[in-house]
Amino acid sequence: MAEFTLPKNSKVQKGKHFPAKDAKGKVRTFKIYRWNPDDGANPRVDTYEVDLGSCGPMVLDALIKIKNEIDPTLTFRRSCREGICGSCAMNIDGTNTLACTKAIDDCKGGQVPIYPLPHMEVVKDLVPDLTHFYAQYASIRPWLRTQSAPPPDRERLQSPEDRKKLDGLYECILCACCSTSCPSYWWNGDRYLGPAILLQAYRWIIDSRDEDTGARLDDLEDPFRLYRCHTIMNCARTCPKGLNPAKAIGEIKKLMLQRRG
Ligand code: SF4
Ligand code: SF4
Ligand code: FES
Repeated sequence: MAEFTLPKNSKVQKGKHFPAKDAKGKVRTFKIYRWNPDDGANPRVDTYEVDLGSCGPMVLDALIKIKNEIDPTLTFRRSCREGICGSCAMNIDGTNTLACTKAIDDCKGGQVPIYPLPHMEVVKDLVPDLTHFYAQYASIRPWLRTQSAPPPDRERLQSPEDRKKLDGLYECILCACCSTSCPSYWWNGDRYLGPAILLQAYRWIIDSRDEDTGARLDDLEDPFRLYRCHTIMNCARTCPKGLNPAKAIGEIKKLMLQRRG
């Protein structure tokens, strides 16, 4: 489980309580981090009681119900509601995960704490500022880089064996759950690329169609960008897609050693 820490701007206070009214089913309590940059107040934790008898099974269903029926000021990101877009990543019940694939029944305690992804600046409530994370992603130039001319009559082909090397990498949805659970990224995120971006970097390094492997490795040959990973493994434990960024980082380090001879 990812270690839980409060968001960066945290002087969290007790907030409002919204009791369930006329509940027809089991009631579950959600303790949700609230912060509005426009009201000048400190962050607080609001308590919402949700009637599960009229709520879908996932934590995102509860958040949507709260926003629609209890408190329209609650702010969070979501889009696909099926674990594809990565936008509903947050810290639920002490672990970074996706609200749309986390079942309410799988939350352990009677009360379910929900916070933004840890150690990130907060835009509002459960919305972290991912500007730096996306800039780091752009910095690895995550697209096929080639020097040779493409075949005139078809796309660049790849054998089934080479395609298989992308399994466990291409599934990454850039939700940032792993990077924001990584202690090295918490303390050195300005310069360390973190597990999500390094997994993406490896995805291009081992793509048989890419022709810029040397330059990609050169870009990572730096005491901070790659080598701040200390194999603590929080990233692999928390990834909601079951991926292993630490393994990908280890593979990049192996390639670095091989080319040094
Ligand atoms: S590796 Fe997993 S946790 Fe990390 S960004 Fe990709 S999908 Fe999210
Ligand atoms: S294994 Fe590396 S990238 Fe993953 S949490 Fe640990 S230090 Fe961070
Ligand atoms: S809403 Fe898209 S991953 Fe949760």
